[in-house]
Amino acid sequence: MAQTRLRRRSAIPWVFATALFLSFWAIFFHAPAGEHSSDNNLLFYFASADSPLKASSVPLTAGVVPKRFHSHNDYEQSIPLFKALSYGAASVEADIYLVNDKLLVGHTENELSPNKTLASLYLDPLVSLIRSANVDRQTGSRRGVFETAPFTPLHLLVDIKTDGPSTFAKLYSALEPLRFMGYLSTWDSHMMSTGTYRPSLITVIGTGNTPLESVQALGYDFNTPRDIFLDAPLSALPQDHRNMFNATISPLASVDFGSTVGLGWIAPAIGRKRIRRLVEVAHAKGIQARFWNTPITPTWVRKYIWQILLDEGVDWLNVDDLPGAKDF
Ligand SMILES: *[C@@H]1O[C@H](CO)[C@@H](O)[C@H](O)[C@H]1NC(C)=O
Ligand SMILES: *[C@@H]1O[C@H](CO)[C@@H](O)[C@H](O)[C@H]1NC(C)=O
Repeated sequence: MAQTRLRRRSAIPWVFATALFLSFWAIFFHAPAGEHSSDNNLLFYFASADSPLKASSVPLTAGVVPKRFHSHNDYEQSIPLFKALSYGAASVEADIYLVNDKLLVGHTENELSPNKTLASLYLDPLVSLIRSANVDRQTGSRRGVFETAPFTPLHLLVDIKTDGPSTFAKLYSALEPLRFMGYLSTWDSHMMSTGTYRPSLITVIGTGNTPLESVQALGYDFNTPRDIFLDAPLSALPQDHRNMFNATISPLASVDFGSTVGLGWIAPAIGRKRIRRLVEVAHAKGIQARFWNTPITPTWVRKYIWQILLDEGVDWLNVDDLPGAKDF
């Protein structure tokens, strides 16, 4: 008892100090200007869910220009998927765990909840967004999630956190509603010597524990075209003499910025050279490049590094601060 009371009393200055620290941190390092207004737009969008205006006249992404930035750990945003789309992120990431035969979304096992599934947070909303985008259309190509760029595919990066083969198999079946509607980009080995790639509205790319073998196994018969691709290890591409990682397997290759460039950015010539070398190898294979784990704060360092990456031809910025990326 005495101990509890003591702990409570001494907690107050800590709470105070933490609050003070956080407010300073928010003022100096954060303060993304557009954040609140845009969240309000989103809330409006949800509030008006049964309004007849919702689907046809006020699409979520009205006026939003999609850009090549990737919403890292997207499920941690205040409103997963929708917030990223409303800022124009053309790529979103969901980490998945196979638990009791369900695909749960979260960063660590402690964050998982039985109602936060890949279907409830991502797959079902994507199906309904695409349905509403095409509700009045009888003919012509189907439109995707971006109102202003209806044929820009959305990259859905699925980071497998549990056992590779079994989680992959469950992911494959969870994608059936999108597959059935023809919404997934596919590759199959038929028709041409390099096979045929058919871009569609959503390109699913497995990362984390996604097994190369499971992705390789798809695409060789008409019933199972390859519609889950692999986020290749960017730093392994220069040594990939057997061309195991090529555009038919991997539209995208990624690497940890910290371990490949590290503090090289402080001596920009060195950092730039490391980045450029990897990007050149990837592009020669027709693969896009992404560096994750880029510095987040302070903002000027983050922007400086984003600029270096873009200058050197990197295709995707890895982003936590969606408003900051939209205005970059
Ligand atoms: C999900 O479950 C949590 C409790 O586990 C609950 O608080 C929350 O309202 C549920 N959300 C939905 C959308 O059902
Ligand atoms: C692409 O990679 C796959 C295996 O990952 C391989 O089977 C195929 O031959 C490669 N294609 C080319 C053109 O090298």
